[in-house]
Amino acid sequence: MGVPFRCGALAVIASLFLLGCEARRPSLSTAPAGGSEVVVSGDTLPADVMSSDDAPSTEGLSTTLGGPLAGLDPAELARFTAGRDEFQDQETVENGLGPVFNEASCVTCHDSPVGGTTGRTETRFGRGTLMGFDPLARLGGSLLQDHAIGGVTIGDRKFVFVPEVVPPEANVKALRLTTPLFGLGLVEAVTDAALLALARQQARYAPAIRGTPNMVQEIPTGAIRVGRFGWKAQVPTLHQFSGDAYLNEIGFTSPEFPDENLPQGNREVLAFNPAPALNDSGENVEEFADFMTLLGPPPRGPRSYLTELGGQVFRQIGCASCHTPTLITGDSPVSALARRAFHPYSDFLLHNMGMLGDGIVQGQSTGRQMRTAPLWGLRARPAFLHDGRARTPEAAILEHGGQGSYARSRYARLPPFARNALLAFLRSL
Ligand code: HEC
Ligand code: HEC
Repeated sequence: MGVPFRCGALAVIASLFLLGCEARRPSLSTAPAGGSEVVVSGDTLPADVMSSDDAPSTEGLSTTLGGPLAGLDPAELARFTAGRDEFQDQETVENGLGPVFNEASCVTCHDSPVGGTTGRTETRFGRGTLMGFDPLARLGGSLLQDHAIGGVTIGDRKFVFVPEVVPPEANVKALRLTTPLFGLGLVEAVTDAALLALARQQARYAPAIRGTPNMVQEIPTGAIRVGRFGWKAQVPTLHQFSGDAYLNEIGFTSPEFPDENLPQGNREVLAFNPAPALNDSGENVEEFADFMTLLGPPPRGPRSYLTELGGQVFRQIGCASCHTPTLITGDSPVSALARRAFHPYSDFLLHNMGMLGDGIVQGQSTGRQMRTAPLWGLRARPAFLHDGRARTPEAAILEHGGQGSYARSRYARLPPFARNALLAFLRSL
């Protein structure tokens, strides 16, 4: 919070766009700066954090899939629209794309509609040994960039940048499916304290499935925060994810990620980087974060007697222990995000998923731990699980291992009618 600004309060943001004022805008981020807010005194969550029945529903918070949160004021709507435009901007080599990258725009992966997922996967690699996990950063890991800008001429010297490949040293290779970004402002607005309390509650009441927060460093404050974004909950804020993705997906440097991605880990070839200066002043990163903060949650699909019954089965067989139906946000500078109950069907904690884990270590997550995948908007997804291996929700359930094995076997033993009800419920999310 607290990005300095000189040009006026939130109410005049819309006019900033018109006037082209250079001053920094106030951050919409609700993320506590860290420190004291991470500490909670008791084990109490608001009583309704874990129940979904009495809380106001997400429906009141959505407009359409891909639309802004309901209840934004005109200035916030203007930021949403400007952010969405920037999110769709195609970068060019002249202004900083690459040298290695995955795509030239956020929307190439996060689309249908804008902010969703096209089902694009990307590759991570590394080397697991008895001594631990080596992300092979010196060889371009752990994230592979599968595109490059090709031939460049600097003075009279020519060089050809080529896409990265998984090096022979790697013995772990994992695909990661693009996740949809709907409703993430709500996820960011949940306090660290609430997620830590949820983890304690699981440890007390459902120790067999208890989750672990991925405690990671927030850039630039250095505060240790509860990570919540990404398949491993490896990133604590939308602003940080924006800068990270701008660098690692598109090859754009920005103030918090000033160092260019090394092609296959090789620093020397950066002598041929056609855009060596900082590629973004931080403005674009903020606009991506604005868009995602204000992007509404997926509207709930049609409900029926069958889907309601399926929701009960979901709770009874233990799915809801990890796929927490309801969370409540803390304070936020955006009133549409403040103190809201919403239904992500995730605890945003890490769980040991046995063989389903992808073998990659990020932050405090081990190779076997994955973040509980939020189930909201499930009906609009092209594929399931971190690598997209499951084509149906049912196939995804049957892959649950480790702490998810018990719920999986209870699912497998359900009579056909209850199983169908559960699947109808999942399709209604
Ligand atoms: C090449 C495809 C690709 C591009 C381009 C891309 N992303 Fe992503 N995005 C992904 C994938 C894959 C994941 C899951 C990553 C993981 O967990 O390792 C992801 C995850 C995210 C998440 C976390 C969502 C969640 O569910 O927690 C955010 C936020 C995000 N991307 C923002 C952006 C922004 C902003 C841009 C543009 C600067 C961008 N992405 C560009 C593929 C892409
Ligand atoms: C121990 C915690 C835990 C329990 C219990 C659990 N899940 Fe999951 N679930 C996860 C995690 C973690 C993932 C992500 C795994 C991955 O992609 O590697 C996931 C993924 C999913 C997915 C895929 C979502 C997507 O976007 O790809 C579905 C569907 C799902 N779970 C449904 C269920 C159902 C139904 C139950 C009850 C039978 C259940 N889960 C029980 C932790 C759990």
